[in-house]
Amino acid sequence: MALPESPPVDRPTTRRAPLRARMRPRSIVPGRQRWEIDLLRGRPAAARLTETTLLEAPGIEEVHASPVTGRVLLRHDRTVSPRAATRLLRQAVSRTLAALLTTTPRKDRPETPPSAAVPRQDAESTGRRLPSILLAGGAVAAAVVGGPFLLTLLSRPLLMLGVTTAATAGVVRGAWRRSNRAKQSSDEATARRHPLRRIIGPHKRKFALAAVLSGLSQLGEMALFALSPSIVLLVAKGGSSTLARYGVAGVGSQLGLLVGAAGTACLAMAAFGYGATVAWRQLAQTIEDDWRTRTYEHVQRVAPADLENERISRVNTVLSEDISQISTFVASNMNDVVQMVTSLGLLIPAFLLLAPQIAWVAFAPVPLVAWLSFRFHERAVASHAASDERRSRLNGRITENLHAHTTIKSAVTEQHEIVRITELNRECSEANRVSDRSAAVPPQILRLAGGSALVGTVLLGGTAVLRGTLSTAAFGPLIEMPGIAMLKLSRLGSTTDQYQRTVTALDRVERLHRLPLEPVSGGRPLPGRQVKGEIELRNVTFAYPGRPPALSDTSLAIPPGRTTGIVGTSGAGKTTVAKLLMRFHHPDQGRVLLDGADVRTLALPDLRRAIGYVTQEPFLFDATIAENIRYGTFDATDEQLVTAARTAGADAFIDSLPDGYQTRVGERGAALSGGQKQRIALARTILRDPPVIILDEATSAVDNETEAIIQQALQVFGTDRTMVVIAHRLSTVQKADQIYVMGPGGLVAEQGTHEELVNRGGTYTTLWQLQAGRPALA
Ligand SMILES: Nc1ncnc2c1ncn2[C@@H]1O[C@H](COP(=O)(O)OP(=O)(O)O)[C@@H](O)[C@H]1O
Ligand SMILES: [Mg+2]
Repeated sequence: MALPESPPVDRPTTRRAPLRARMRPRSIVPGRQRWEIDLLRGRPAAARLTETTLLEAPGIEEVHASPVTGRVLLRHDRTVSPRAATRLLRQAVSRTLAALLTTTPRKDRPETPPSAAVPRQDAESTGRRLPSILLAGGAVAAAVVGGPFLLTLLSRPLLMLGVTTAATAGVVRGAWRRSNRAKQSSDEATARRHPLRRIIGPHKRKFALAAVLSGLSQLGEMALFALSPSIVLLVAKGGSSTLARYGVAGVGSQLGLLVGAAGTACLAMAAFGYGATVAWRQLAQTIEDDWRTRTYEHVQRVAPADLENERISRVNTVLSEDISQISTFVASNMNDVVQMVTSLGLLIPAFLLLAPQIAWVAFAPVPLVAWLSFRFHERAVASHAASDERRSRLNGRITENLHAHTTIKSAVTEQHEIVRITELNRECSEANRVSDRSAAVPPQILRLAGGSALVGTVLLGGTAVLRGTLSTAAFGPLIEMPGIAMLKLSRLGSTTDQYQRTVTALDRVERLHRLPLEPVSGGRPLPGRQVKGEIELRNVTFAYPGRPPALSDTSLAIPPGRTTGIVGTSGAGKTTVAKLLMRFHHPDQGRVLLDGADVRTLALPDLRRAIGYVTQEPFLFDATIAENIRYGTFDATDEQLVTAARTAGADAFIDSLPDGYQTRVGERGAALSGGQKQRIALARTILRDPPVIILDEATSAVDNETEAIIQQALQVFGTDRTMVVIAHRLSTVQKADQIYVMGPGGLVAEQGTHEELVNRGGTYTTLWQLQAGRPALA
């Protein structure tokens, strides 16, 4: 994305907000904020300036400002507090507003209707590059219309060629620098390597092979188009003196030679073209596989706390669509680029060698074409990001609704959801329209420029032949060249468009790669056999980002080989205790100990293997019951499987199913009841046979009778095993060796055995009386 150095001007593109900086927060959590800022709506340059200004601030990791919606997404690291980030955002917006005010003297500049949404250049680039554009554009115009004036220019062809080359170089260098600067601010670590190199990665050989084949195919095409006018000339003139000079006498053999050469060129073009297509596709496939596997592997290893902050549908979009975008770019657009470079690389020396006096007119449109492509597509990036964001939201919503279909039906909100999806769909297509419109203009302008080059070449070349300063033998092969080259160059537009989309996609993929990983190695090994299972929370304070502490100075001691119950109000922090023990999160203060060792010092896979954690809402995969129970203990025998199911009180209902253990459970276990799912998850953990088991409301959806059966079985299974039973139903913990009663903020209100607590007359007593159906004593 372009980084303007001085205040940019936004001309009206779509309907947009008046000049004022009204900012509405949409969500603020530590590390991430979403805002809606009217000022940025319909002002791509303002959105860009806000992004740039913010990205310069230390600690700001990522900014997306959408000129379509006016929404801003801001991510920052832990060194920046939410308040400081808001301040930085306000400062950036003030700066943008000031820039707009200084460059838009008339407050109520007339708004152009949306149909005029063709992006135009901004002030800075106009100032810097206008001369070269005018020069190049003027040259084309002159070549087409200016008769006598043309001849004066013709006398200085080399000067013109020099000017054209310098202008092209200037345009390309400027665009390159801007894109590099944009990349640097978004990611310092990878900034040193160009996006293309990051995409291709270790597959340089495959890339080289595909590029060579593309180049050869283009060479064949150029040869074919150079030979065909020569054949026409040969026939028209009844022979070629040039060929005769090289010893090919007689028009028949001369014709045979040229036609044979043209046929060979044609074959080469097709054969190498086929090879190139296959090579690019294979490279694309390899790159896609590679990126998807690596990205998935990374996401899979991200710490739960960091992944919780990401929207699953967005991660999904990155893994599927963004990676496909990268691969599509490699499969189709890289071929175009190589062909473009080859054709220009051949055209320039061919013209300089054969007809230097008309070379400039063939190349005159090049800087204009290059400038236009870059200009339009820098603008287009913002709208691409916006339309991608919309699509991701629409997809996320659709997926969510499909999962929530029972909730929607029972709430009778079908119409509400249809309206919501229609609205999101409309927003999505609106954003697409903006980006499509900006993508549709450049190709046509590029074709126009290509046509001008062709007309100019024929005009100038024809004049030179008539005056006798250029031979037909030299001019003949060149006639069709500029047309072909410009045709290739006309794809610069769509290629640049795809390139920008790809860089945006790559950025999102790489942002996932920057999420910190959990340590897979290191830490003290903890063989399962040696785990005693003594758990202790020592003065632990922990808060989820942006929330009040879930645990404040909480201390708990869970003895090894015993059953400990934890009861308490919903939201007291019971699940949080389990999460801290499993190292899904880390305490802000205090320590969590297993067998006297801080869990942070233990090897993470060993720690998690030592703990069997059964949650209230277990996740079942869309597979058979047997496969779900075996998940994590893949080598268990059928006998072990059935024993585990029996201990979990699941065997009876499994046996009653027509397919028994081979019954498929549906997506997320949709074909089972809540209590059945819980029992399968319990069997899964029992089969793993870990030294520590945490049952977090694990039987809450099971009926009382079945729960009693499960408890009896668990008592045998739990002998010499540390069991932590978190429950709201007191009968679940009644037989525990000791019980903790937790209050809000992780406060440990009471502790003791069931008998002690019932007779203490505290919270537990009240709860017990309520659950036993007796009126609570005061
Ligand atoms: N991922 C999360 N992000 C933010 N807050 C959370 C998250 N998980 C839980 N909380 C909050 O932390 C507090 C304790 O939650 P939890 O440990 O799940 O309670 P319990 O299991 O005792 O019902 C609650 O106030 C809850 O809203
Ligand atoms: Mg809970």
